[in-house]
Amino acid sequence: MSTPLQNDLYLRALNREETPRTPVWVMRQAGRYLPEYLKVRKQAGDFMTLCSTPDLACEVTLQPIDRFNLDAAILFSDILTIPDAMGLGLHFETGEGPKFSNPVRTAADVEKLPVPDPAQSLQYVMDAVSTIRRELNGRVPLIGFSGSPWTLATYMVEGGGSKDFSKVKGMLFSEPALLHKMLDKTAQSVISYLNAQVESGAQALMVFDTWGGVLSPANYREFSLRYMQQIVDGLTREADGRKVPVVLFTKNGGQWLDIMADTGCDGLGVDWTTDLADARARTGGKVALQGNLDPSVLYGSPESIRAQVKTVLDSYGSGPGHVFNLGHGIHQFVNPEHLGVMVEAVREQSAR
Ligand code: CP3
Repeated sequence: MSTPLQNDLYLRALNREETPRTPVWVMRQAGRYLPEYLKVRKQAGDFMTLCSTPDLACEVTLQPIDRFNLDAAILFSDILTIPDAMGLGLHFETGEGPKFSNPVRTAADVEKLPVPDPAQSLQYVMDAVSTIRRELNGRVPLIGFSGSPWTLATYMVEGGGSKDFSKVKGMLFSEPALLHKMLDKTAQSVISYLNAQVESGAQALMVFDTWGGVLSPANYREFSLRYMQQIVDGLTREADGRKVPVVLFTKNGGQWLDIMADTGCDGLGVDWTTDLADARARTGGKVALQGNLDPSVLYGSPESIRAQVKTVLDSYGSGPGHVFNLGHGIHQFVNPEHLGVMVEAVREQSAR
């Protein structure tokens, strides 16, 4: 099944091996800032149809690779596929983001949550992974992903996006055992989902903990990190004779990078509110670091983008173990040419 990788800079950097330059990819690299993405989404009709049609998911996954020659591809899908497969009824309301018809609020709701078999209700994701892997034909590695249990729980309990997390935090403080039960089922679901992605061809894994940063330090350990630890411990870490690196990313989690590194993951995503030099000092060479350009830098001029890229590369400093990325997903209204400027700048400025 495996065509040898032509460009494995990303995997080598996550292993903290020397590379001739710093590899680069971007969170949300396939998405609405690209006119060619909007065209395919229109053709699909809606976002979930796009995710569940393997040929179309494959096409949009490859678009940013073709346009920018990035060093890794990321599966086109969403973190909310798992709660959808748990029966919550995911739909996207235009302009309002994701919504669940059946949010999880009571002990009975938690009790009836299944741990989905990826070969059943999530087979469409596995089909997308194997199609993308075949079409990539060894150009660059393919990243599989999921949300962290805590981040998924915020959507599952709130019934969609939230600003204050009132319902899920209400559950956390008044019924912690119930929330733990739900997080445990979700963690089990994430483990079998990610392992199935590896079996279908994913060569690296990333866990998005977008909302871990809204927790207090004690709550972060108990309700988010604990379940990411469970995931790291349960994952397939090698496939086709090669290590499958795992990257954890807690947005706004800069203060916890040291305890995150202690999970035994291979890399950590870092947002722009933490300096990479500081992140590196605090993780003591245990992990690779991915990040951390402020996504809003891409609203600036090409000259300012090149200068900010230099600041990020300089803050990491010399030595292996850096994967260049934004500190969070690329914004919808960014000029795609500005991403091109960023990628070129990383290539030129990091060449050793
Ligand atoms: O990075 C990639 O290019 C891979 C694809 C990917 C998507 N979502 C596609 C998507 C990934 C990795 C995600 C992860 C995701 N989804 C996260 C965690 C990462 C993060 O950004 O913090 C979260 C919290 C979600 C949940 C989600 N999905 C939201 C809140 C939304 C609405 C966003 C909005 O601004 O309206 C989505 C939809 C979504 N997922 C889109 C894309 C390209 C936009 C859909 C569209 O309208 O075309």
